[in-house]
Amino acid sequence: MSITNFPGGQSSASTGLPTTKVTMPALAEMKRQGKPISALTAYDYATSRLVDEVGIDLILVGDSLAQVVLGHDNTLSVTVDEMLHHTRAVRRAVRRALLVADMPFGSYHGTLGEALANAVRFVKEAGAEAVKIEGPRVELVHALTEAEIPVVGHLGLTPQSLHRMGGYRVQGRTAEAVLSLKADALALADAGAGALVLEGVPREVAAAITAELHIPTIGIGAGPDCDGQILVFHDLLNLTFAPPAKFVRRYGDAAALIRGAVEHYREDVEHRTFPNDEESYHLPEAAHKALEKHTKVGALRKA
Ligand code: KIV
Repeated sequence: MSITNFPGGQSSASTGLPTTKVTMPALAEMKRQGKPISALTAYDYATSRLVDEVGIDLILVGDSLAQVVLGHDNTLSVTVDEMLHHTRAVRRAVRRALLVADMPFGSYHGTLGEALANAVRFVKEAGAEAVKIEGPRVELVHALTEAEIPVVGHLGLTPQSLHRMGGYRVQGRTAEAVLSLKADALALADAGAGALVLEGVPREVAAAITAELHIPTIGIGAGPDCDGQILVFHDLLNLTFAPPAKFVRRYGDAAALIRGAVEHYREDVEHRTFPNDEESYHLPEAAHKALEKHTKVGALRKA
């Protein structure tokens, strides 16, 4: 069955939001038309469903889940199986957005054959429509593209290179580094990457790369001149328990919302004000009558 178009065509009459399936070629078309691409990470069914229903164009099951969902210090320890588990949950929720899965550290750093086999798992077992890989792995991007697996590249501050970079540092700050980034971006595009995440690079560098590439750039900490923007869901909603990076804009305070609601629930339980009578099931009248014949249980009737 094709899910290329949902009933109702371009937009849902009830919400006015677009319903046409986003594909990798559609992202390139958005770039050509100068339409900004919205992207966000997501890791579970409920939040992905909301993100998709709102009309975000690209949903990334990022390896950032290692930190924001699983509580690790960095992204390095998350496994292929953990990424697959979350990608499947997101797949069940997402209808419209392009679903991209991050390949975790170690899953594409061995032979091309191993990397290809791991990428195939994301498509076959979890329903990803593209995979994202970090760094200038031109040969691998070419091999994946040849194998019909669309690829999103990722350059600049690549968190899986944490130890090599000596920390999370803005990249592309010298003329030499800028030229190298540009060359890598062009090589990935030539190898077949369908889009490129640019993370933690000066605005001017992202703008120059965006202008030169025929594929869309999606920025995070890369200024406003990229073809699209991506943020980590938990950053957007204050769910990270840490001060936000410079590039993060908080659009809501889910921590305050959740704390408030859970605190209120705890108080209600402690004060026996939850559940109330309307929130309780009641014994049918006929059962009451039948039970009243038994003197002991007759007391079940409410006073
Ligand atoms: O893992 C992730 O969330 C990412 C985005 C920040 C681009 O790679």
